[in-house]
Amino acid sequence: MGQSEVEQFLSFQKNKIEEQLPKYISKLSAPKIIKDSMDYSLEAGGKRIRPLLLLGTLHSFGKDENIGLSTACAIEMIHTYSLIHDDLPSMDDDDLRRGKPTNHKVFGEAIAVLAGDGLLTYSFQLVSESVGNTISPEKKLLLITELAKAAGPEGMVGGQVADMEGEGAVLNLDELEYIHRHKTGKLLAYSVIAGAILADATSEQLDKLTQFAHHLGLAFQIRDDILDIEGTELVLGKPVGSDTGNHKNTYPALLTLEGAKEKLTFHIDEAKRFLYSVNMKHDILDYMCNLIASRDH
Ligand code: IPE
Ligand code: IPE
Ligand code: MG
Ligand code: MG
Ligand code: MG
Repeated sequence: MGQSEVEQFLSFQKNKIEEQLPKYISKLSAPKIIKDSMDYSLEAGGKRIRPLLLLGTLHSFGKDENIGLSTACAIEMIHTYSLIHDDLPSMDDDDLRRGKPTNHKVFGEAIAVLAGDGLLTYSFQLVSESVGNTISPEKKLLLITELAKAAGPEGMVGGQVADMEGEGAVLNLDELEYIHRHKTGKLLAYSVIAGAILADATSEQLDKLTQFAHHLGLAFQIRDDILDIEGTELVLGKPVGSDTGNHKNTYPALLTLEGAKEKLTFHIDEAKRFLYSVNMKHDILDYMCNLIASRDH
């Protein structure tokens, strides 16, 4: 695929994800306020990088992307829950997300917490109910177990705790890498791993893709740290300077902006090295590496 075909693929799949997400919310039998609140943050936009990584991985193995659509939407729900909670006054205390007032600013803290809880739990229901008979129960179980690990205390939640506990302290690079690898890397990596599981990847392919995704996830959060300094609120859709204000440990704070950019390049190069060692198509995931390295929002 040439670059414009890759771009067409990604925009086509993104539209499919964005059509599907509100459908999943509208069919819920639940109080209107919680559906509105979940919908508000899901529909606010976002790059949909994680679901696109899953569908892109399926495509790379020559599989029908539709078999991954519900799992892709489930990941976007977990990611959106993590953003709602991350923005709360007791966490990063931010007022703007995806170009709109944060969930708690519109719905209040109690509903924002519950909207996060709702998105998190509903996501597991979506995976367990997904794609009828075309996925074996064993495969579904594996998808659910890996998702719980990626999102829970051994994954994103653990990283968020270390991030909060590290506020104001000076961490070393290993400690900072732990935070980034967990708070952001694990769920992002799961997106690739879930695609590979659905595509019946061999264990060797899975190992290499796990390494690929680990480097890509770190690179993603390093770019996020850089954008907190170099970005603009209008393009980012969230405040700049939030990390500095909260005395966060970030790659630029520890290594300088130049040092952070060098690390970003290193992890993108490593990601590509692992990507090309897997016997499959590489064009979409290669494009996504470049996107993640150079994104401005
Ligand atoms: C922001 O994630 C939070 C991080 C984990 C760095 P994204 O940059 O993917 O945010 P959206 O989904 O596009 O809004
Ligand atoms: C958040 O990291 C990671 C999450 C699990 C949400 P940040 O706190 O840096 O994300 P942003 O910059 O607010 O999107
Ligand atoms: Mg945070
Ligand atoms: Mg934040
Ligand atoms: Mg950030």
